This record gives sequence, C-alpha cells and structure tokens, in this order.
Amino acid sequence: MKALVLSGGSGTRLRPLSYSMPKQLVPVGNVPVLFHCLDNLRDADITDVGIVVGDRGDDIRRAVGDGSAHGLRVTYIQQEAPLGLAHCVQISEPFLGREDFVMYLGDNVLVGGVAAHAERFRADCPDAQLLVAKVADPAEYGIAVLGADGSVERLVEKPSEPVGDTALIGVYFFTKEVHTAVRSIEPSARGELEITDAIEWLRRNGRQVRAEIFDGYWKDTGRIEDMLDCNRVLLGSLTPSQAGSVDAHSELIGSGPIVIEPGARIERSRIVGPVTIGAGTVVQDSTVGPCVSIGRNGLLEHAEVEDSIVMDGAAIRGVRGIHGSLIGRNTEVSQAPRFSHRHRLVVGDHSRIEAAA
Ligand code: DAU
Repeated sequence: MKALVLSGGSGTRLRPLSYSMPKQLVPVGNVPVLFHCLDNLRDADITDVGIVVGDRGDDIRRAVGDGSAHGLRVTYIQQEAPLGLAHCVQISEPFLGREDFVMYLGDNVLVGGVAAHAERFRADCPDAQLLVAKVADPAEYGIAVLGADGSVERLVEKPSEPVGDTALIGVYFFTKEVHTAVRSIEPSARGELEITDAIEWLRRNGRQVRAEIFDGYWKDTGRIEDMLDCNRVLLGSLTPSQAGSVDAHSELIGSGPIVIEPGARIERSRIVGPVTIGAGTVVQDSTVGPCVSIGRNGLLEHAEVEDSIVMDGAAIRGVRGIHGSLIGRNTEVSQAPRFSHRHRLVVGDHSRIEAAA
C-alpha cells in the first residue's frame, strides 16, 4: 500500500503564520504537524509516500527531504493551485498507479496512529474505508450519514443543513476505483473537487464504502485554537527528559511531563509541566507552563507564559501573563520602555493582538 499525504492548500485560517510557513510545519508538542502524520504512516508499515505540495513546497521539501529520517521513501507531487482534495488524487495517479493507498491530510493529527485501520483495510479491501469521529461543528467538515448498522448512507461536504455529526477526519483508504470517481465529479460550490463527492460517487455506483470510528484523539489543526488544543494533548504524552541544565534556584513542578532539550538553560525560573523547551533556549527569571512548548534557540527573561506555542528563535523579555498564544519564529515580544503607557506594534497582515487595558 502507498500513501498520499496532502500538504498544499492555502492555510487562510492560520494567517498570519501561514504567510511565512506552510501550516503543516507549525510545531505541536515541538514537532511539526506533518511529522506526526509521517510517523503514523511508518508505524503502519506504509513507507512509499507521495506528498502533494503547493506554493510552499520548498519549505516542505527542506523539512522532510527524501523521508529517510522518518523511515520513508518520499516522492513530491506539485499541485499548481489548491483545486481540491480529489484534484490531488487526479494529479497523483502517475505515482499511485493501480495500487491501494491511504490518503492522509497533512494538517490532521491522529494520536495513536492508523496501523489497526490499515490492517483491516489490507484484510478486506473495501473500495473506500473512511475514518470518522463525532464533532461539535459539523458544518466545518465532510459528514458521513451512517445507518443503524454503521453502513454509510450518504456523504455531504460541509453541509449547510444539519445531516449528522459524524465527520470524515482526514484519513481515507482507497483501491484503484477512486481514480474513476475523481474523474467523474464536478467542482463544488467553493470551486474545489471534493474527495467527499468522489466517495459519494463510489457509494452511489455500487462500490463498497465503509466507515470506521476513530476513538483516539484527533484534531484538524486548521485554526489557531485547534493548534493550541493539540499542543496541550501532545505535551501531556511526552516522555520526561532533562538533557539541558537547570540551576539550583529553579524548580520543575506541575502534573505533566517536562522536557528540557540539550543545551537549554533554565535559571531562577519555575517550569510547570507539561512543558517542552527546545535545544539552546535560555529561560531566566521566568515562569513557563503549564502547556507550553518553546522551540530552539529562544530567550525568555522575566517572562510568564502559559498554554502557548513559542517557535524557534523567539525572544520574550519582561512580559508577563502571556497565554493562549502562538508566537512565530524569531519574533520579539518585549516590555515598553519604563514609564511608557503606550504599545508599539510591528506585526504582519492578519495578525491578532489582544492587549490588556
Ligand atoms: O479535517 C477533515 C476535513 O478535511 C474533512 O472533514 C473534509 O471533508 C475535507 O474536505 C477537509 O476539509 P478542510 O476544509 O479542512 O480541508 P483543507 O482545505 O484544510 O485541506 C486539507 C489538507 O489538504 C491540508 O493539509 C491542505 C491540503 N490541500 C488542500 C487542498 C484544497 C492540498 O494539498 N491541496 C488542495 O487543493
């Protein structure tokens, strides 16, 4: 079985971060979203992987390379414009050939992996096997309407009228039959060739389509709040380690794991797990956590950060009460000069700032 990982798209819901990096490379639990997917594929013994990339393809290529660091053999497939998930399958036919494959959305995180689902697909080979889970906001997803016996009765992409709350969660197993389906559908109202419509075409044309409930933690990391939620969960499952230095005036507390990578230095600070602090980062006179991941080569001085993702090279000086935040690479957050009651902001397009009054 091959894999097709979708890592193109526009990432509009993740602006401004998606201006400078593809959304699939935003770190959750200090690991890019996409790497969670690649590791799940390897754990399911699926090593021949095509990655569909868009205009940020060079970043993905640099991060993943030939895939060998993940135990995979990776082929890149360039998509000229984000024309839909079924369009991705169309342009990948030369790579996929007539083989069975799993299509995995590169911005979805499934904790616990897909190995058991891959095994069942290998055993039974239905034409489509979908992973589904209940959601609170069905209008944001592809929805599978299931019968009492669990059979798929209908599939609707982002329904405007309520049809159910069982969503497709970004992992689909297919046989070669899907190639006929993706050639047989028309673009949706949003102008995309929807994979949901292709699967509905398979069902209507008598092919076997089945859904399996995914009972682990799953998140589509398309929005900032989802990234933070996912970060919380992944931090909670880290294996504690302390390769960096922690001075005698610091304390490591809290109920979750703490990872201090090599070369990180913690001085006169409180670290409240779950927290991960990347290699080479210096934390002084600060409180970090719970639920914070800090990337590599950062600096925190007299800072207080909780429930946030801070990326590589960011510096936070003299600012307390930071929470629920995503701070991009090499960003500087600092205190205004003494006695100043004004804010000075240098921020890119579509940024979001909530300043305390
Ligand atoms: O997260 C699950 C949902 O993913 C499903 O419930 C929906 O049925 C499915 O359509 C999809 O909805 P989204 O609107 O969240 O898809 P998004 O545009 O975020 O794209 C998903 C991934 O595929 C993402 O990594 C970007 C990539 N992509 C997307 C498009 C439209 C491409 O590589 N090329 C594309 O043309």
